[in-house]
Amino acid sequence: MQENQEKFMEKVYNLNQGKNLKYTILTMGCQLNENDSEKIAGMLEKMSYSECKDVKEADLVIFNTCCVRENAEERLFGKIGEIKKLKESKDVILAIGGCMMQEEVMVEKIKKSYPFVNVIFGTHTLQNLPENIYKAIIENRKVKDVIDIDGEIYEGLPIKRNDNFKASVTIMYGCNNFCTYCIVPYVRGRERSREPEMILEEVKGLAKEGYKEITLLGQNVNSYVGNDKIRNFADLLNEVCKVDGIERIKFISPHPKDFTDDVIDAIANNEKICRIIHLPLQSGNTKVLKEMNRKYTKEQYLVLAEKMKERIPGVVFSTDIIVGFPGETDEEFEDTLDVVRKVNFEQIFMFIYSKREGTVAAAREDQVPEEQKHVRFDKLKDLYESRVDENNDKYLNTHQKLLIEGKSKNNAEMLEGRTDTNKVVVFKPREGNKIGDVVLVNITETHKWYLKGEII
Ligand code: SAH
Ligand code: SF4
Ligand code: F3S
Repeated sequence: MQENQEKFMEKVYNLNQGKNLKYTILTMGCQLNENDSEKIAGMLEKMSYSECKDVKEADLVIFNTCCVRENAEERLFGKIGEIKKLKESKDVILAIGGCMMQEEVMVEKIKKSYPFVNVIFGTHTLQNLPENIYKAIIENRKVKDVIDIDGEIYEGLPIKRNDNFKASVTIMYGCNNFCTYCIVPYVRGRERSREPEMILEEVKGLAKEGYKEITLLGQNVNSYVGNDKIRNFADLLNEVCKVDGIERIKFISPHPKDFTDDVIDAIANNEKICRIIHLPLQSGNTKVLKEMNRKYTKEQYLVLAEKMKERIPGVVFSTDIIVGFPGETDEEFEDTLDVVRKVNFEQIFMFIYSKREGTVAAAREDQVPEEQKHVRFDKLKDLYESRVDENNDKYLNTHQKLLIEGKSKNNAEMLEGRTDTNKVVVFKPREGNKIGDVVLVNITETHKWYLKGEII
């Protein structure tokens, strides 16, 4: 952390003494934003704010925004309206940050329509939050701290994590891919990788604190660039696997175009790496993929998935799919369904194409009508759901290693854990079982969205 920000943190801390001030953060978007919010929370706690869940109790409200799809904007405006009301009855600082604040039009809109917003910060200026909050309190200034150029990487920000047995570790920032539908490269800047030693130090620290599961994060993790010793993503995975105490390692998102053999080997050779691999497909049609600038064909994707199935026994896949990309025909959409049938994904995150101003695809005139997009979405959902039972049946009478995550939501006597393919399993605990433990169970029953098991 920069020295001057530490000073501001101390100044705000001193100002806040004896006031028992509370903060709340609303995080929208992906796990990278979640991880940023954990750092925001870390800074706020050092400034003597404590967390509250109910926004009505808060003296400081932070919205960490996402702009990957359109509906986020409506939601944000609704939330800002709520805070406006709250501000009528008490002093509340409202700070809005995250990806949406990297869009100039959005910042202008907020400044014009919601002049009571105290701080606007971008994705490259997260570390300046102490200074910005100080200015908002002491000088009652409206602060806008958004820069367009890629931010440097700031190490050593304080962090308050959401869980105490699983943790996310960002390994790289930004994206260079410019998929034609996607706003992320515009709001997160170019790819910047963290020093591998810094990443390993963080993971070792987490292991010491008792964390069991690590998720390595980046928009494109397999284009991670290290140094002479730990050169690339495969090397990094191998090193993270050596950290004692860490039982499980996940990563999101890899890009199929960069899924090299050494990464496949690293997964195959390390049982700690989860056997569910997120492999974003987006579309199953080669022409659409080309227009999306994804840099792989339907066949290349299928060959990659097959190769991984051969080399990593028991591997399953999850994916992201967009329906209704501009110009997509019914026939081209059939290719997406075909890939879904062939790969048999365990989990699909399905999205209706959403036009993002400034991207290449948004300028196209052949946008797919809304109703058609919805018809395709429903078809994809039906296909996926029709396969869930069959996919679950594969687990019956198999032995699965579970990481215990907590109490079952429906039955207080039962605990819940996840397999290394991300399946939720409910089971009756033995004495001494606790959150974060790894146990072996036999799967005895399947239900649509969870399995039941018995400890062996
Ligand atoms: N870097 C990651 C994903 C980042 S965004 C990757 O490449 O996999 C998460 C998902 O949102 C994307 O995979 C994509 O499926 C979806 N998405 C991105 N832009 C979108 C848009 N304009 N409309 C609909 N879905 C979109
Ligand atoms: Fe967006 Fe593509 Fe980058 Fe993922 S890889 S963040 S989809 S541009
Ligand atoms: Fe959204 Fe930004 Fe993530 S746009 S998906 S929060 S990188």
